[in-house]
Amino acid sequence: MRRVHIAASESYDVLIDRGLLPRVGEESAQLMKPGKAVIVSEEKIFALYGAVLEQSLQQAGFTVFRFFHNGGEASKCLAVYGELQRFLCAHHFSRSDVIFALGGGVTGDLAGFAAATYQRGIAFVQIPTTLLAAVDSSVGGKTAVNLPEAKNQVGCFYQPKAVFCDMNTLQTLSEAEYRCGCAEVIKYGVLGDGAFFSMLEKTHIRQQEENVIARCVEMKRDIVQEDEFDTGKRRLLNLGHTIGHGVEQCSGYGITHGDAVAIGMAAVMQGAARRGICAKEDYARLAAVLQMYGLPTTCDYPAEALFDACMADKKIGGGKLHLVVPRAIGDCAILPLELNELRGWLT
Ligand code: GLY
Repeated sequence: MRRVHIAASESYDVLIDRGLLPRVGEESAQLMKPGKAVIVSEEKIFALYGAVLEQSLQQAGFTVFRFFHNGGEASKCLAVYGELQRFLCAHHFSRSDVIFALGGGVTGDLAGFAAATYQRGIAFVQIPTTLLAAVDSSVGGKTAVNLPEAKNQVGCFYQPKAVFCDMNTLQTLSEAEYRCGCAEVIKYGVLGDGAFFSMLEKTHIRQQEENVIARCVEMKRDIVQEDEFDTGKRRLLNLGHTIGHGVEQCSGYGITHGDAVAIGMAAVMQGAARRGICAKEDYARLAAVLQMYGLPTTCDYPAEALFDACMADKKIGGGKLHLVVPRAIGDCAILPLELNELRGWLT
């Protein structure tokens, strides 16, 4: 088992282990007095892992409730958020009770935002069941729901009491879902650890999940501890996302987040290589590793359509954007750009 301690405004541990789920109850009971607990999940995820979690929590003394949403970005909305708040109220949840988020990023973001705001804040625990959530969204305290106008528009920073990552839950992911997580894992290698990137080139992530997840969480921890509220260094985590969001938008969200981030990373590193910011060999290594994990490196959308789609990202405001640009594998910089200058990176 690996334990990564996060010392943000609230401190907590991320536990990473195969077969951890049956121990979540006893681990949680060490962090809080067992009271009411609601498991927020999708029915299909709960069908796989809910019974084990529920039993573990009950054995530790929690009284367990269930709240299901339909899954997908559409569930991360004000209406479902409101239903969850009213569910907590109807079952007389108080500030000494707790929410367990069992699932991927949608579940974690929705449950986290509900926890942050119900009675001005109750405890919540993240139990990521996707590789993407394990290495990214479950750690660092970003919670939010979407508006019809744009994603993640209503939310706040609110750290969980703990994150329990059981790698056994990754076994039921589809190839496409797993690949999505691989793109984010590769991102960490490019961002800050050349030796880790080399490890991903040599051995498939599936063969080294515990080490891979722990290293990604450590890298995210180092960034979050320095810039929890996303005003500077945390922007590094957006490597591949500025152009990636444009790709997702152009495809009408038909291209998955992971595939879009892969295309975004490849585009920005190719642009960096053309400008002499990084070596051409580094771009070639990135393209090769993305291909090794079945991820795309290009898309067919015209540059102008991609530019317009990138501009639709509500995070880009104030006439400037921050593009994360690799200087080498394991070393990236944040480059402030005028909006128009992004066009040059899209061809
Ligand atoms: N997912 C990016 C962040 O946590 O800042």
